Amino acid sequence: MKDGKFLTMAFESSCDETAVAVVADGREVLSNVISSQIDIFKNYGGVVPEIAARHHLENINEVMERALQEAEVTLDDIDLIGVTHGPGLIGALLIGVATAKAVSFAADIPIVGVHHIMGHISANFIQYPALKPPFTALIVSGGHTNIADMESYTRCNVIGSTRDDAVGEAYDKVARVLGLGYPGGSKIDRLAKEGDPDAIHFKRVLLEKDSYDFSFSGLKTAVLNYVNTQNQAGREINKADVAASFQQAVIDVIAEKSVSAAKEMGYGKMALAGGVASNSKLRDTLTDLCKKNGIELYIPEPVLCTDNAAMIGCAAYYKYKEGNVCGLDMEAYANLPIQEQQIL
Ligand code: KG4
Ligand code: ZN
Repeated sequence: MKDGKFLTMAFESSCDETAVAVVADGREVLSNVISSQIDIFKNYGGVVPEIAARHHLENINEVMERALQEAEVTLDDIDLIGVTHGPGLIGALLIGVATAKAVSFAADIPIVGVHHIMGHISANFIQYPALKPPFTALIVSGGHTNIADMESYTRCNVIGSTRDDAVGEAYDKVARVLGLGYPGGSKIDRLAKEGDPDAIHFKRVLLEKDSYDFSFSGLKTAVLNYVNTQNQAGREINKADVAASFQQAVIDVIAEKSVSAAKEMGYGKMALAGGVASNSKLRDTLTDLCKKNGIELYIPEPVLCTDNAAMIGCAAYYKYKEGNVCGLDMEAYANLPIQEQQIL
């Protein structure tokens, strides 16, 4: 405790960001340190799990020290440790989990494991201090695409998921095909602004009527085929048009499904989460559509959309408040269904 506030220190290392944050009373960010490995993986065109784990190991102590310093606290002030324990790259996750457990043991601080997606959704509680569940959540990241019913601070019921590629994964793969480099999402976002979204018609895959599931692998293949066909015919490719047309096909589907799910749930509130939630076209499209449908839209600022530990601290706080504590036998899980996190 410091100044009467309950302090959570949280760790996030599920992919290529080594992040540690200190959060007061669950929603106030005292520090949010993120050490990104993006520059390293630019050379590889994507994340190499083994290398990511090694860099987490090299960086995590220093990132933790900085998080404590920036928050102007010491370990003695920390009341709870939160850590992402799944899903993600197992070697990467293990570094965060092992470090969090070591600190928990050495400083005798309780520890809570957090589901990465619960963390992403919880970023909204930080951004919007008055936001309370229930609400509809749209999770769009590099590893996940879900529509969920956020019933309470700790209970999340997934009603739709991708059946193949996650939306961020599709962005990254299309960016690679266009030679834009890694990570591709933000590059497509920028390039698409200069292109015509109607230049090329890519099929919108809506799956069965009333299904909230997604499929993006067909769209990714369609873009690949288009690019190959143009190349083989010796025709020049307008990359901005391809980026804009691909993005429009993605956003049309996501917007239609998420807004109809929000209408069906009837909470009148929808919150976005995950790295792709920082996409400018998605933000603008959903802002308009939600307004037309009387739905209040919540979108965290970009730094809270992509991987960070403040969101994990927030989710850990609410899990702990509901009486959940993990033991030092807590494990890391490469695959962790969101429903299962409620019993871990
Ligand atoms: O949530 P996140 O940081 O990591 C995961 O948990 O997966 O999301 C990373 C993903 C990457 O696929 C990246 O290309 C995508 O988010 N992304 C974007 C944008 N910024 C990041 N996609 C589209 N537009 C953006 N502006
Ligand atoms: Zn993430």
